[in-house]
Amino acid sequence: MTAEYKVNGAVAVITLNNPPVNGLGHATRSAIVEGMKKALGDSAVRAVVITGAGKAFSGGADIKEFNTPKAMQEPTLHTVINVVENSDKPVIAAIHSVCMGGGLELALGCNYRVAQKGAQIALPEVKLGILPGAGGTQRLPRVVGLEFGLNMIVSGTPVPAEKLAKTALFNEVVEGDVLEAALALAAKVADVRPLPRVRDIKIDYPNYEAFLQFSRNTVKAMAGPFPAPLKCVDAVGAAVTMKFDDGIKYERELFVELVQTTESKALRHAFFGERAASKVPDVPEDTPLRAIKSAAVIGAGTMGGGIAMNFANAGIPVKILEMKQEALDKGLATIRKNYENTLKKGKLTQEKFDQRVGLITGTLSYEDIGQADIVVEAVFEDMGVKEQVFKKLDEVMKQGAILASNTSTLDVNKIASFTKRPQDVIGLHFFSPANVMKLLEIVRGEKTGKDVLATSLALAKKIKKTGVVSGVCDGFIGNRMIEQYSRQAGFLLEEGALPEQVDKAIEKFGFAMGPFRMGDLAGNDIGWYIRKRRYVEKPEVTYSKTADLLCEMGRFGQKTSAGWYDYKPGDRKPYPSQVVNDMIIKHSADLGIERRKISDEEIVQRLVFALVNEGAYILEEGIAQRASDIDMVYLTGYGFPLFRGGPMFYADTVGLQNVVMTMEKFARGRHGEAWKPAPLLARLAAEGKSFN
Ligand code: 3HC
Ligand code: NAI
Repeated sequence: MTAEYKVNGAVAVITLNNPPVNGLGHATRSAIVEGMKKALGDSAVRAVVITGAGKAFSGGADIKEFNTPKAMQEPTLHTVINVVENSDKPVIAAIHSVCMGGGLELALGCNYRVAQKGAQIALPEVKLGILPGAGGTQRLPRVVGLEFGLNMIVSGTPVPAEKLAKTALFNEVVEGDVLEAALALAAKVADVRPLPRVRDIKIDYPNYEAFLQFSRNTVKAMAGPFPAPLKCVDAVGAAVTMKFDDGIKYERELFVELVQTTESKALRHAFFGERAASKVPDVPEDTPLRAIKSAAVIGAGTMGGGIAMNFANAGIPVKILEMKQEALDKGLATIRKNYENTLKKGKLTQEKFDQRVGLITGTLSYEDIGQADIVVEAVFEDMGVKEQVFKKLDEVMKQGAILASNTSTLDVNKIASFTKRPQDVIGLHFFSPANVMKLLEIVRGEKTGKDVLATSLALAKKIKKTGVVSGVCDGFIGNRMIEQYSRQAGFLLEEGALPEQVDKAIEKFGFAMGPFRMGDLAGNDIGWYIRKRRYVEKPEVTYSKTADLLCEMGRFGQKTSAGWYDYKPGDRKPYPSQVVNDMIIKHSADLGIERRKISDEEIVQRLVFALVNEGAYILEEGIAQRASDIDMVYLTGYGFPLFRGGPMFYADTVGLQNVVMTMEKFARGRHGEAWKPAPLLARLAAEGKSFN
């Protein structure tokens, strides 16, 4: 049963029991109504308490039911709340742990609410691209006030129950057993009439029009491409401007509209994608984890410093090892400066600053790191250097320590083979800046132990990263795909586009940064270095030479104040460069290419479909476990627009047949060989299926 019914003296207790978070799916909704019917029909029952079993009162509507007939199947959440609100016996919500979305809306339909201190109270629907659709926008402002209610609904941010103790939302906020407190309240109010109902409360806010207009302006400026936040303001506005029942109807209309939008579907895809990524089919959820109480990082460069900060931020002491004192001092000073900047911005307290800085120490000696539970290597991207480091780690690290590499392109199996304990070796691929970027690619080697993988996934959560498992291949999931995107960007320059047009087109599509601005930021020399290796190892892969010519001009990007764009001292703004544009145009002429006008649509399709096609290979080869993992990599590590849900999800929304047809058109152009659809993509398109 997804809700249990018990009678406790004169009080009926309905306990939601739909693990893990008592989502209000159809079965649970039906069970609540059944419980209410029993309670109303039993003359011995004088009050009803609704509570939740396990780790939540309720996490809200069952998101998996959205856009399926079940979501609308009676009893809908509206019906459930109506039954509760129209009960002629008092109904008391006993709230603990989590009370969100539809769960809070159900509680708002009750006559009384008792909460346990610490319970997280929220209407987080906006984060899923929708708005509270079961009366939340009408009832919450009636109990917490128009301003506070609007803030909660537009931000979706949870508020601890005790912060709301003085509002009409809660009759009591208790430290101890919430069910006991609710039963005591039930005894007290069993005969009190009329029954208090939230819908009957009037919102007292004389200047509401000005407030709503101000809110609309503020929210519009922050909502970006998402329609939901503004609709939240509209719906909350209805709580003051309309009669209660009309407000409910209006809220419903907006909900139905929003739940159909691609933006909302994309956000829900990301919600489930994030959770799916932490699951590996052949690694059971109860795999014993290795304890990570201390860490070490090899190399205090760009990545090593950021990686060390992650450990310190999570309260794990970390030692950084360098070859020379000078490099170590420089690395430690950079870390300190980063923390100082956060402190100055007021985003870190002095106490936390001291604590974090204190957790990071430096050393030049391997003997000092031998007892660490995990070591992450972040030295130069060179197999010879990695070999030296891993042989040394094999000598000094205690048994059971995890030996991780932050390599971005090298073969993790080969790195593991430098040790006598390949089961302990794994790739932990952080993204720059490592203390900021959410993505952590977890590279599973052929021999990586299941417990090492499970521990790494748990570590990702602990350091607040999105961990995505990748198999071993050149570039893993993210960089292997981005290479195809970069190749297309290069070809577009040869055929007629200029860097600014390409960047602007893809940024308009929603990417945080176009490929050329990104190259200037990361350093064009990195790609040059990789390509030089590719020219020898994979001569069959073609690249535009424009990026090499750029590097030969010494234009490595922001660090040399010149890259695809010109930069002025102390200014990161890119200015289109005449020299570079001349070089690009001359290069086309040298190749005998007649430059043509390229549309922004073609630019976007070529860049994004290049990602999609490589993603399909990666999926079919088993490098990624599922399409949503690829989307998570791109949403959290590569600035792919969240409202489009990631490259694979985006391709699904375009329709895979359309994607393949467009690719066939590109295949007839220059470098057409790049446009052969991956077998999986071709198959799914032919069968009318999708990736997700
Ligand atoms: N519907 C369906 N599944 C849900 C769910 C929901 N509302 N909330 C959580 N889950 C599932 C997760 O997918 C996950 O499933 P898995 O174990 O198969 O991966 C499992 O519950 C546990 O979730 P978490 O890993 O996130 O557990 P935490 O303990 O870290 O967090 C939580 C719990 C705070 C409830 C968090 O899951 C959360 O924020 N959930 C979403 C809450 C939400 O957005 N509610 C509003 C729903 S929309 C709504 O109510 C519409 C209404 O207005 C009409
Ligand atoms: P970096 O050049 O900034 O830092 C490397 C550091 O390692 C230097 O401080 C160097 O002194 C030190 N070092 C070199 N050999 C050493 C050894 N034998 N023992 C101890 N220390 C040694 O390089 P960066 O950018 O930090 O890259 C490190 C690794 O991270 C590489 O494998 C790279 O591919 C990978 N990576 C880099 C990303 C980036 O954006 N820079 C992103 C993701 C991964």
